[in-house]
Amino acid sequence: MSNLILIIDFGSQYTQLIARRVRESGVYSVVKSNSISKKELFDLNPAGIILSGGPDSITLKKKNNLSKNILNLNIPILGICYGMQLITDFFKGKVKSSQKKEFGHAIFNIGKSSKLFYGLKKGKNLNVWMSHSDKVIQLPKGFESLGSSSNTKFAAMYSSEKNIYCLQFHPEVTHTDNGKNIIENFLFRICACKKSWTTKNIINDIINNIKIQVSNKKVILALSGGVDSTVVAALLNKAISKKLTCIFINTGLMRKNEVSEVKENISKKLGIKLITIEASTIFFNKLKNIRDPEKKRKIIGATFIRIFEREAKKLKNIDFLAQGTIYPDVIESSSIGSKSEVIKSHHNVGGLPRDMKLKLVEPIRLLFKDEVRKIGKSLGIPSSLIERHPFPGPGLAVRIIGDITKEKVEILQDVDSIFIEELRNHDLYNKISQALAVFLPIKSVGVMGDQRQYNYVVALRAVKTIDFMTATVSEIPYNILNKISTRIVNEVTGVARVVYDITSKPPGTIEWE
Ligand code: XMP
Repeated sequence: MSNLILIIDFGSQYTQLIARRVRESGVYSVVKSNSISKKELFDLNPAGIILSGGPDSITLKKKNNLSKNILNLNIPILGICYGMQLITDFFKGKVKSSQKKEFGHAIFNIGKSSKLFYGLKKGKNLNVWMSHSDKVIQLPKGFESLGSSSNTKFAAMYSSEKNIYCLQFHPEVTHTDNGKNIIENFLFRICACKKSWTTKNIINDIINNIKIQVSNKKVILALSGGVDSTVVAALLNKAISKKLTCIFINTGLMRKNEVSEVKENISKKLGIKLITIEASTIFFNKLKNIRDPEKKRKIIGATFIRIFEREAKKLKNIDFLAQGTIYPDVIESSSIGSKSEVIKSHHNVGGLPRDMKLKLVEPIRLLFKDEVRKIGKSLGIPSSLIERHPFPGPGLAVRIIGDITKEKVEILQDVDSIFIEELRNHDLYNKISQALAVFLPIKSVGVMGDQRQYNYVVALRAVKTIDFMTATVSEIPYNILNKISTRIVNEVTGVARVVYDITSKPPGTIEWE
């Protein structure tokens, strides 16, 4: 048995959160689509399986083949929400669709002691997070109820014989009292997992794997200066320092002063060898008159790779290209379950040309952002760099709506720089997950110093998010927004108006394109 928890995704917005919670408890978890084959499942040899929630109704949709493959395997299982309903249906209990939705806060009463609720007394009320309309109305044979909510008689159940536990509520959501304890009870008391997913172990594993994969070959790293690729640089530097060359391409689409900051951070602070390639003209030429966001991404992705290949040729005998791809990119770019369509092709993953000659090294491909940050800290990367907001690979290109020109990039760089500076001045930067400015290709009338102005509009966006899959708008106080807006209009020539984006994700994505 491996020390791994397999999470099978049925399309819940919380699937990644389940995976992160498991890892935060010190156990490695992987997310797989519900079309996982029996062979793949056996190869993983999980210590336990968690079935996620999902938008489907078991009462409507044809049953998933998966049930046959996993529910009789005698591996401990935790079914959450839709997962519970799937299990109920499979073992011939009854699930009913109800008009009455239970969404958000609910009170769950523990009806029976069990390993899952170890440490929590029978009769105790827990504030929990629910998100369902279907519910179990008759337990399958061999299952016992573990508790109820006011709207749901069977809000948790288990079968000791089958070692299957089910929850109608979401223990992975922070609004659920003792959610972490419940997950840890499943991991350690039911699946007998060991705490082995620690920063130190992860670093050692990654370094060993890099050594094995790369062997005596040479690697170039596409360094963007962001957290992910910087952490990859530090890991590669530790694993194979002499065989590593970091290449930083100035696309001309970076933030203000970014080029000099990256050089300073990587070469001076971290002591890693860095080559900077000046390629803004190439990128601007390739992007000329391109308005479609997906085209922009593909062009940028392909241009990046071509430049790397060219540099690799110059350096001679380079076999590998390293990238800072992380787990959410991988999950978001591969269709999982019924839910995920590819919303945007993240150029790290989706946009690589098919005929690319270099092999990929992606040491943090299986890590979440918070894990990457922890590793970065432990490798001695300065916290100012670790705490930087994410910046998309295609850079300001996907923050300029419509075609891209040098003039627009410069305007946006100045706007972005004022926005970020003010957030830092007001101690807001670290309370926001990502802040950005967007250039809108429309003009608006204004008046400055008695003169009529007819200039561009920019939008500011700041969001709070844990996993970047969903996000809420940051409530920046009006007086601060007002100050930022005044500074932008006064200091940035070409901008007449500033608007603040108040769209959550979903429905809006974080970037505008
Ligand atoms: P969205 O806009 O999809 O963004 O809500 C989620 C997170 O991903 C970043 N992002 C990208 N990163 N290449 C990247 O490397 C891309 O094409 C890309 N598009 C979005 C975005 O900044 C946010 O952090």
